[in-house]
Amino acid sequence: MKAKIKLNKYKNNIISISGSKNSSLPIIAASILCDEYLTLNNIPNIKDVTLLIDILRNLGQTIIFKNNTLTIYPHKITTNALFDSNISKLRGSYYLIGSIIGSNKECDFSIIYPGGCTLGSRPINFHINAFRKMGLLVNTKKEKIHFEGNIHPTIHDLDYPSVGTTINIILASVKLEGITIINNCALEPEIIDLINFLNSMGANISISNHTIIINGVNYLHSTNYTVSSDRIEAGTFLILGALHNGITIKNINPNDIYSLINLLRSINIDISMTNNSVTIHKNKELKPFNLVISPYPGFPTDLGPLICVLATQINGTSTIKDTVYKTRNSHIKELNKMNCLISCNKSIISIEGISKIKNKTIKAYDLRCCASLILAASLNNKFTTIKNIDYIFRGYENIKDKLNSLGIDFIV
Ligand code: EPU
Repeated sequence: MKAKIKLNKYKNNIISISGSKNSSLPIIAASILCDEYLTLNNIPNIKDVTLLIDILRNLGQTIIFKNNTLTIYPHKITTNALFDSNISKLRGSYYLIGSIIGSNKECDFSIIYPGGCTLGSRPINFHINAFRKMGLLVNTKKEKIHFEGNIHPTIHDLDYPSVGTTINIILASVKLEGITIINNCALEPEIIDLINFLNSMGANISISNHTIIINGVNYLHSTNYTVSSDRIEAGTFLILGALHNGITIKNINPNDIYSLINLLRSINIDISMTNNSVTIHKNKELKPFNLVISPYPGFPTDLGPLICVLATQINGTSTIKDTVYKTRNSHIKELNKMNCLISCNKSIISIEGISKIKNKTIKAYDLRCCASLILAASLNNKFTTIKNIDYIFRGYENIKDKLNSLGIDFIV
């Protein structure tokens, strides 16, 4: 699918941020661990969420999704062959592995590989190592992975604070008798959201420094839980506001995007905030920056391609080094087609500003690449055509209406 995007007349408006994609996916997958029905609020109506709902329905779950509220009546998953082709369409489907392991005393099932955006190589070896450490026999084949055996509590010392691995260990061990410890865990806000959700059902999970302690419980009761807002959507609109004439985003905890707020302030952007909103004021002359992207509380990798667009509008040379996904570069070639001057050498991206963005036909290669191309297209008052625009609907709710309300035309 293609979309045409251009600047009509920028309106400094208020954007209400939707629920978090990367919280919703593990929380929805975790619903099969619950022993009663549960209600989730603030669930974004985006493609990745509806795909996961379809997968769960095909696995026998009763799910009602209406007006961002999801009611789930979990049923025991009886199949031992998870071969639904939707599983290979999203990365978040790997949370089904942790949830199925966590809801069965004894495991014996196969699943096809999860998919998702291609950000260079995206192996799941950390997950597999963790499951093996818990006692499972994990057999990786070309097209599927087989899990067999019983898990036992253990101490995990992660080599890298992987978001997905931390979540999968939590899901697998929340109902496991005994104490599971994850040292050097990831502590992204989405992980805190998942822990709060599980604890709201009676789980016993605590955090101490960079360690998560899971004291297994045998029953998880009903809950009515509201998922946090999407810090990456929030960051996307803040950067858009920084590119234009300001913006206010509401329904967001500014602490979740503090690394972005700090960076924007350091380059001369005026920002004010309340406990659930952030306002970017009209820009002065901005300063170039040198940014290193790292796990939370560092600057988020998912905003790397977007902040790159801002750098193209700043006089001088800015640099970005992503230590999380070292080859997350698919936006560079496309932005350069639009007259940007971006190069990459030994995983350091250098951006020379200021570029006058030209309208072109360009192609998105993943979700955040697509978002960065939309930001660039919003800088020209002639239509840019973006191929593969479907990516944006995986992660941004009502994007068309939100952009229109800011005076940016988005025609699919
Ligand atoms: N890694 C491995 N082996 C593994 C797992 C990860 O080598 O088994 C590597 C990755 O290749 C990467 C690094 O470790 O270089 C970090 O990966 P991590 O496990 O932390 O990320 P993830 O769980 O695969 C989630 C989000 C991503 C987000 C990252 C980092 C979901 C579904 N995905 O991915 O979101 O970029 O954490 O914050 O929650 C997006 O929303 O566009 C997106 C890509």
